Amino acid sequence: MLSYRHAFHAGNFADVLKHLVLIQILDYLVLKEKAICFIDTHAGAGGYALNSGYAQQNLEFENGVGQLWQRHDLPEAVSRYLDVIKAINRSATLQYYPGSPLIIKHLMRPQDRLALFEWHPTELEALVKKFSKDPRIHIYPEDGLNQSIPLLPPIERRGLVLIDPAYEIKTDYQTVVSTLVSMYRRFATGTYALWYPVIERQRNQKLERQLRASGIKNILLFEWALCADHTKPGMTGCGMAVINPPWTLTATLQQTLPWLVNTVSDRDGYYRIDPLVSQ
Ligand SMILES: C[S@@+](CC[C@H](N)C(=O)[O-])C[C@H]1O[C@@H](n2cnc3c(N)ncnc32)[C@H](O)[C@@H]1O
Repeated sequence: MLSYRHAFHAGNFADVLKHLVLIQILDYLVLKEKAICFIDTHAGAGGYALNSGYAQQNLEFENGVGQLWQRHDLPEAVSRYLDVIKAINRSATLQYYPGSPLIIKHLMRPQDRLALFEWHPTELEALVKKFSKDPRIHIYPEDGLNQSIPLLPPIERRGLVLIDPAYEIKTDYQTVVSTLVSMYRRFATGTYALWYPVIERQRNQKLERQLRASGIKNILLFEWALCADHTKPGMTGCGMAVINPPWTLTATLQQTLPWLVNTVSDRDGYYRIDPLVSQ
């Protein structure tokens, strides 16, 4: 059994980037009335108490959502992100951090569907408690990288797949690309959002090479780092590769990422925005 529990990391800077972008994509997709199928291949527990033992251990949220909570000088996308987190919190104090399933549930409509994949028994139990009564949501206690592929193309012909592994298994860096290739072959017009950590730059370079050579078109890649890359253990930054992103996303990131670097990162923090493969 793998040991990763997202509760240790809930609300950290990596969650801020991932969920801010997730909200931008969701807001864009729901502009059209037609139903959407959402797939979350690595769902986690769905939501996390920040006053619990896990979140309190390293207080990672303090250098993520905690840095933003009380500010009023926010760029539009950060403000929108906080509005969603605050609405789910139902409180002026930061007590609870929603995971991707809860954020999607908050923004999806009656006509939309959500498939959640999670294989850790404890996280799965939490998901069942939170979501099993919602007929729009189906929980799969299975491998989200392989078992989500047959769900594509969705009958709705509109969809978003969020791929957010813990990268505890090093082969995940390769498996995510082969999964994306299989998914894209079945459903080339879908939107796909892959999150990845920056821990060892060589792994990221390899991931980028593989994405470039994958045959997948229209990939936007971007990163936010707290500090310059180094060789000590631990995550210095994180990034996402979004396939078929909303056309508005690049401009939104250009407005948001420099502000996040200035506000949260160390002096040698950085961001990048690269159209990795064009349309
Ligand atoms: C980074 S967390 C997910 C966080 C969640 N997406 C969010 O944003 O709130 C990764 C989760 O994936 C689960 N996991 C790891 N490998 C998996 C796999 N192949 N299939 C399904 N779940 C997996 C882990 O148990 C963990 O709960």
